[in-house]
Amino acid sequence: MSKKALITGISGQDGAYLAKYLLDKGFKVYGLERRSASNDNFRLKYLDILNEVNIFNIDLLEHTSIASLIASEQFDHVYNLAAQSFVGDSWNNAITTSQINSIGVVNLLDAIKQLSNTTKYYQASTSEMFGLVQNTPQNEKTPFYPRSPYGVSKLYSHWMTVNYRESFNLHCSSGILFNHESPLRGSQFVTKKIVSGLCDYLKDGNKYLELGNLDAERDWGYAGDYVKAMFLMLDKDDPDDYVIGTGKKHSVREFCSIALDKLNIKYSWEGQGINEKCISTKDNKLIIQVSEKFFRPAEVNELLADPSKANKKLGWKSETSLESLIEMMIEFELSK
Ligand code: NAP
Ligand code: GDD
Repeated sequence: MSKKALITGISGQDGAYLAKYLLDKGFKVYGLERRSASNDNFRLKYLDILNEVNIFNIDLLEHTSIASLIASEQFDHVYNLAAQSFVGDSWNNAITTSQINSIGVVNLLDAIKQLSNTTKYYQASTSEMFGLVQNTPQNEKTPFYPRSPYGVSKLYSHWMTVNYRESFNLHCSSGILFNHESPLRGSQFVTKKIVSGLCDYLKDGNKYLELGNLDAERDWGYAGDYVKAMFLMLDKDDPDDYVIGTGKKHSVREFCSIALDKLNIKYSWEGQGINEKCISTKDNKLIIQVSEKFFRPAEVNELLADPSKANKKLGWKSETSLESLIEMMIEFELSK
């Protein structure tokens, strides 16, 4: 009989890629979505799997509905990907962010403990928990120092996952995933914003892009590679925590430069700090300017993964280079 997997946040970037991956592995895939007037499941449609997954319309905060679902379906795997995942919004929405990202997790863990204790659980932890990094590169032993309500809420759920594993002997694992992107990335995140903004500029030379901190450095990988690591964690006999990343970092400015080169746009960076601009060397038109409104109250300046534990124990490694990822994102954007 097919194994059953529940994915919370199935309408998001990772949820869609994970659903496709598990369906290809023969799983029966169930998804949790909160009701929304605007969500048209474009990612599941794009991957051509909307009709292959079973969707439950339940908010992660509806703990009684979550408990009855966990009790009645007895899932083999539960992947908790639902979250308020945009760091930039988390200062203005600190309470909602905490409720979804922290209390939502306890709703699931507690239901599993009481009603389905052989279910294997995956928690979507994050490199944002390293925040003001204490060591570089970051691995499973690096101390945490979150810098946003998002990071703090995720640190709570990370430790609750560890605690339920240690207290109740549950199969709970956390993937501490570094930034991962794809053509299906949400439009607020910087990589998607850069690629779609530059494609808009290419189509209409009067459009330009406004960004915040160009010096921030991230370890960017491809979401399609990262969902495999989630499965590998639950496929193992022993639950554990794993850092997942590429081991390479680039600044936001470098990401822009690679995308500009791929689009064959000739440019130069001019000025410094808040006055920095990217200008077309063909006609002097503005391509990118820095705007204070995209800076954060507290920034995570650099993130760089040391994924050696995942390489060794899961046999997982990042397969897609940043250059290929950017090409993939550009191709998708230009085909729209
Ligand atoms: P995403 O595209 O923002 O997807 C998040 C999903 O959660 C959306 O489908 C959203 O649904 C759903 N959701 C939010 N609140 C909910 C609630 N109360 N009840 C039910 N569903 C709810 O994020 P992602 O990039 O796929 O990331 C997946 C997970 O990994 C998140 O937990 C994120 O924090 C974590 N993570 C991501 C990265 C990354 O670089 N992508 C790195 C580390 C960790 P709506 O459409 O209704 O909002
Ligand atoms: N979004 C955004 N928009 N970010 C910008 C901009 C801009 O205009 N300009 C500069 N940045 C900088 C941010 O300040 C940050 O340092 C970096 O670009 C990346 O921002 P995001 O793409 O929004 O991602 P994030 O690193 O804050 O968070 C993502 O990765 C985390 C893992 O490290 C999200 O996917 C989180 O959910 C995830 O946990």
